[in-house]
Amino acid sequence: MRLQPLPSILSGVLIRRETLGDAEIIHSVTAAAFARPGEEVPVEAPLVGWLRASKAWIPELSLVAVGPGGDVVGHVVCTRGKVGPAQALALGPLSVRPDRQRRGVGQALMHAVLGAADALGEPLVALLGSTGYYPRFGFRLAGEYGITPQRPEWGEHFQVRTLTAYDPAVRGGFAYPEPFDRI
Ligand SMILES: CC(C)(COP(=O)(O)OP(=O)(O)OC[C@H]1O[C@@H](n2cnc3c(N)ncnc32)[C@H](O)[C@@H]1OP(=O)(O)O)[C@@H](O)C(=O)NCCC(=O)NCCS
Repeated sequence: MRLQPLPSILSGVLIRRETLGDAEIIHSVTAAAFARPGEEVPVEAPLVGWLRASKAWIPELSLVAVGPGGDVVGHVVCTRGKVGPAQALALGPLSVRPDRQRRGVGQALMHAVLGAADALGEPLVALLGSTGYYPRFGFRLAGEYGITPQRPEWGEHFQVRTLTAYDPAVRGGFAYPEPFDRI
């Protein structure tokens, strides 16, 4: 069997943990990725800072994608959420700089953060996002696992990716960390 080569458009992009000094550029990348007409700074940009300052922050799970020139072109973060009393992860925001989108950077960040979460022994990751994008990373509608979103209207987009330590007995309401309540 021949292995397919990775797309050359992704060549030179590396994924690493966020380090001291990355916060400002992550803010810029997030603001650019989520830019909407009529909104000066999309709320997803300060949200990353609020999460970083909260007890929900997990330093191992804030990852950046670095381009060949050393510039940060994408970011993803998972923070501490819960399913009932059980620990879980909330994924997001996920951001790729608009001029670097559709080249596999988002995909690389997703695989990296899910692998890191699995290596840390985390049981599952939840997110609110497009069902056109996330199922390719193993996400399914959370209802399939008996996990419900904080707001019922999220149901169509609220998804869960189970990891090796997943326990099917863990069911119930998912709670995002507090900073998500501010958006
Ligand atoms: C979503 C995002 C992170 C994807 O990163 P990316 O590097 O562009 O994605 P990749 O190159 O890995 O994958 C591209 C694929 O994702 C699809 N895709 C990207 N955004 C999508 C969306 N919102 N809904 C459905 N599919 C989407 C593209 O159609 C493309 O699929 P195709 O190659 O089959 O056509 C990036 O587009 C982004 O930052 N968007 C703005 C912020 C955002 O919406 N974040 C996610 C919030 S849940």
